[in-house]
Amino acid sequence: MITIRITLAGMVMLLAGLPAIAQTDDKELLNQAQALFQPLPKDMATPQVPVTTERVALGRLLFFDPRFSIDGNVGCVTCHQPALYGTDGRPRSIGVKSRPHPRHAPSVLNAALQFVIHWRGDRVDAEDQVVQSLLLPITSGQPDETALLARVNSFPGYAPLFKSAFPADPEPVSRRNMALAIGAFERTLVTPSRFDDYLKGNVDALSAGERAGLAKFIEVGCVACHSGPGVGGGMYQKFGVMEDYWKATQSDPIDKGRADVTNDDADLYMFRVASLRNVAMTPPYFHDGSVATLPEAVKVMARVQLGVRLEDKDVGDIVSFLASLTGPLPPDFATAPVLPPGPVPPTK
Ligand code: HEC
Ligand code: HEC
Repeated sequence: MITIRITLAGMVMLLAGLPAIAQTDDKELLNQAQALFQPLPKDMATPQVPVTTERVALGRLLFFDPRFSIDGNVGCVTCHQPALYGTDGRPRSIGVKSRPHPRHAPSVLNAALQFVIHWRGDRVDAEDQVVQSLLLPITSGQPDETALLARVNSFPGYAPLFKSAFPADPEPVSRRNMALAIGAFERTLVTPSRFDDYLKGNVDALSAGERAGLAKFIEVGCVACHSGPGVGGGMYQKFGVMEDYWKATQSDPIDKGRADVTNDDADLYMFRVASLRNVAMTPPYFHDGSVATLPEAVKVMARVQLGVRLEDKDVGDIVSFLASLTGPLPPDFATAPVLPPGPVPPTK
């Protein structure tokens, strides 16, 4: 009897004590997380680039329409597919006339949030990205703006939509306005997840395993680079702080990163720190898609950026934390719109 009583008393003490300890740890972790990350905004509009209903509706059609490329079958959606969370699932993209792209397609989801666009930051913002890609050989193949706009105007449904999206513009169908419309659409593509609920104070929005992963992600130093609302996307860093990245990724060829953009050796192997929003949904990984799985990408990062060899349990916990950054697809992105009818463009 006595033994039982002591055991029961001991158990009561344990039960009373454990959650109390866990709660202070949980609160401490939440405080740390709130200092490092922010919830996603409602959209990514800025005073310079407003997001209006008309622009978003037009931009959505333009995004999903493959008929503007020279062969009429490659558009934004080809390489940024809803079913693949805004990527194409390939290590490196393949464009118009099967032309190979040197890099991997990152997701368009939450992309406008990042401080610059593209792996090497060679685009200022979402709109700049579109302006250029509408005439590039791999993404478009159109020889010039006149040919591009002639193609757009061959679908009579578009002109009235441009007019209502840009009512003050005497020539609403323009490459610049295509970019403003597609950019406006992209600026609505935010994917808040359980991690945002957590950051707003709901500790139970993440499981114990996910919180252990978050704690590891902070403790080993991933947060030195991956922070802010995008969990990355806020700065350039060298890929290969502790050792050459290609030794860990087997990359071939070796991309010199931002140095090829700036012609400055100080930028050798510098890349924008990737945003990790939805990262569990967007394999393969890195600027050249050289690493197939997320656990492997986490190990590469720990080794190459921090000089740390992670235990399998820690890799697993970090991967489950990263999976909590997956949010539902925005409904306007999940389903394709009905495109304005028009002549079938050439396929050669
Ligand atoms: C042939 C495939 C292909 C097509 C077509 C294409 N993209 Fe991309 N996209 C890519 C690749 C590859 C990258 C990475 C380029 C780089 O970093 O050098 C990219 C990068 C981006 C990014 C930057 C994301 C980030 O995290 O920086 C955005 C935004 C984007 N594309 C939007 C679009 C839009 C809008 C269109 C249509 C106008 C389009 N793309 C057409 C393959 C494509
Ligand atoms: C010194 C800065 C730095 C640190 C520390 C760092 N990263 Fe990264 N991370 C980057 C850069 C830069 C990239 C983009 C690499 C490229 O261009 O291929 C990246 C890319 C990634 C990617 C691939 C994203 C994608 O979509 O392909 C993952 C996953 C990742 N990091 C996770 C982590 C984890 C987990 C840690 C901690 C173990 C970590 N990172 C530590 C800078 C860093």
